[in-house]
Amino acid sequence: MVKDTKRYPDTGGWGFGRFIDGKPVDEAQHQTCFACHEARVKDRDYVFTRYAR
Ligand code: HEC
Repeated sequence: MVKDTKRYPDTGGWGFGRFIDGKPVDEAQHQTCFACHEARVKDRDYVFTRYAR
């Protein structure tokens, strides 16, 4: 994931990327990414992982 609020204003400022064998996957696959992160961790800037304490 890459944070860039200007390029990705519709997905909380996050660009999602996925690569298989070094090649980017199609757009349909990328559209599944945000839905899940939005549904589950919207209040944490769409990021699941937390800092270790
Ligand atoms: C079905 C729900 C779901 C979908 C769809 C999904 N993710 Fe996630 N993503 C998660 C979960 C849950 C974690 C945390 C996994 C862990 O900590 O082991 C995660 C973690 C991540 C992380 C690490 C940062 C973080 O938030 O902790 C990145 C980067 C990421 N996903 C990118 C993507 C990309 C790119 C796609 C689309 C190709 C995608 N995700 C689709 C559920 C999803």
